[in-house]
Amino acid sequence: MKFEIKDRDAAGRICKYTTKHGTVTTPNLMPVINPNKMIISPKEMKKLFGTEIVITNSYIIKKDEKLREKALKKGIHSLIDFDGPIMTDSGTFQSYVYGDIKLDPIEIVEFQRDVGSDIGTILDVFGTPDQTKKEAEQGMKETLSRAKQSTKSKGEMNLACTVQGSIYPDLREKCAKSLSKIDADFYPIGGVVPLMENQRYSDLVRIILASKKGLDPSKPVHLFGAGHPLIFPLAVALGCDFFDSSAYIKYANDERLIFYWGTEKLQDLSDLPCSCPVCSKYNESELKKMPKKDRVLQIAKHNLFVSFEEIRKIRNAISNGNLWELVERRANSNPYLLEAMNLLRSKDVKDFLEQFEPVSKNKALFYTGPNSIHRPIVHRCHKRLSDRYQTSFDTTIVFPDGEKPYSTYYYDQIKEIRRKNCETNILIDSALGPVPVELDEMYPFAQSVFPEIIDKESEEKITKIFDNFTKGKKIICWESKNTLDTLKQSKKECLDFDIVRISAVSDMQFGKNASKALFNGEIKIVKSKKTGKIRNIYCDDKHVLSMRAGDGLFTLKIEGGKLLYKYFKTPKMRVMAEEDAVPFIKDGKSVFAKFVKDCDPDLRPMDECLVVDKKDNLLAIGRCIMNRKEMLSFEYGMAVKTREHFKD
Ligand code: GUN
Ligand code: ZN
Repeated sequence: MKFEIKDRDAAGRICKYTTKHGTVTTPNLMPVINPNKMIISPKEMKKLFGTEIVITNSYIIKKDEKLREKALKKGIHSLIDFDGPIMTDSGTFQSYVYGDIKLDPIEIVEFQRDVGSDIGTILDVFGTPDQTKKEAEQGMKETLSRAKQSTKSKGEMNLACTVQGSIYPDLREKCAKSLSKIDADFYPIGGVVPLMENQRYSDLVRIILASKKGLDPSKPVHLFGAGHPLIFPLAVALGCDFFDSSAYIKYANDERLIFYWGTEKLQDLSDLPCSCPVCSKYNESELKKMPKKDRVLQIAKHNLFVSFEEIRKIRNAISNGNLWELVERRANSNPYLLEAMNLLRSKDVKDFLEQFEPVSKNKALFYTGPNSIHRPIVHRCHKRLSDRYQTSFDTTIVFPDGEKPYSTYYYDQIKEIRRKNCETNILIDSALGPVPVELDEMYPFAQSVFPEIIDKESEEKITKIFDNFTKGKKIICWESKNTLDTLKQSKKECLDFDIVRISAVSDMQFGKNASKALFNGEIKIVKSKKTGKIRNIYCDDKHVLSMRAGDGLFTLKIEGGKLLYKYFKTPKMRVMAEEDAVPFIKDGKSVFAKFVKDCDPDLRPMDECLVVDKKDNLLAIGRCIMNRKEMLSFEYGMAVKTREHFKD
């Protein structure tokens, strides 16, 4: 089993997952194949929708003598005629739907192994939402015990061990933690079908969050039985990697068409609001007039086209860094989903999700509604402002939101304040919250787009954050140049604005007082001739930092790394590498997760970091690809992309 992060956004990720039958990219969707009724064959799915991996049911195969014998003799790949990765389920769901069926938990795992399944599933105990906590706990414990037993029989097959625990977050987390300690390869989150059927998305979100908190982050997570694309963006943003769909055929049998906002009955449609190959070929009345069997087939195809399209949109959003925007837009199209989004506004959830959120993204932050202000990246900015940023004076002049960058928009006013050398901080009351004017080019303050008038709820939230940030400070709202008459003039020399800017950005990015470490000498700032923006910073003729034009954040140079290393004590900013990796790092190679011994828990994906050995000798500087928990869990993939290494 090989599972490796390639790109990421929110708590979602694009990974490569390798099985014996090839590598697939996540997030991904596995259509459910019924070996008795292959209405669309896996081969055809590959051609039509780009299907890379499918799931079928070992219980159905084992129960039928013909299928069983063929599967045992020729293998499951031959049985369903598919040469890509195949996952098998165990019969848990049948046992939930039809009541007790005769199945031995170990036998069914051995059977999956013997027919050559790439990912076999344990016979977990389906926990239903109506269970008491005691019942749920019993089922969860039985699931755990079967999981442990099953690992002994898995052979070369990847073993999927399902998280159960009904709707109780503490049971889910406990189950997930215990499963992470055994030799499992793949984690489905189970027992969610009844929640999907009743659109109980808040419970679903609570379950995903609790499970993810307990799970080993280095293994794929599969939301079992959640085949409606409506839930895909949010589930991926919370860290789910795989989905399966039997919905495509179940809904088609019912003559229902799947869309990203929900499901529509064919008879209720006066037009087909879709441009997939099916809806492009037929109009709604042609579909309605078709023989039933053909109609079901065409709707099933439409359903899969739409489902796979959503997966591709999600992957695209991850690489663009705008997955939260997609999630919010989708939530705005379904009230139950919108309701579930409220859960993501609590501090605990934001603190959890913030750990995975990259520090910078390729695209500007777009406002899509009242949830935008609750995104983890905004939460982080406010947290770093309060923990890391230091103001110079007790008085603050506040300017209303304006065009970005603010220092250009308020150029004349700022010039006047500085000419008079007033003892005041300059703050913008922006739609994203308080923005010290010297941070106005830093992501996402400059790289965000809000409408002039935003919703009342966000306004109130921002006001609260603003008040918190300015608590104890004397606040003056800018009205005119006369506003300055009341202010004290400083006796000290007015600091160069560029120095104020680089100090504030480095404190925010590397930690409180980083500027003291970096700029304790003669500073030279080199600007772009074309844009006038800061490019390179030298301290005593040593190149310590470069500023990126795109996100206004710093790229750390080795000389800057040395200064931060001397100033900050371990583990601050450190990624500690195992002895075995040291020669490679000294040779300029990146740090792979497998060789990370420990790491500063405050580092986030895309943060700059210091690579050290176990004796805290500085080896290199680079950029984190993962957070601490991920670095310590992943067997594959890069933990730190190093940029410069120490030459001793
Ligand atoms: N299919 C849908 N839900 C489940 C589940 O909870 N467990 C298993 N094994 N299969 C499922
Ligand atoms: Zn269509």
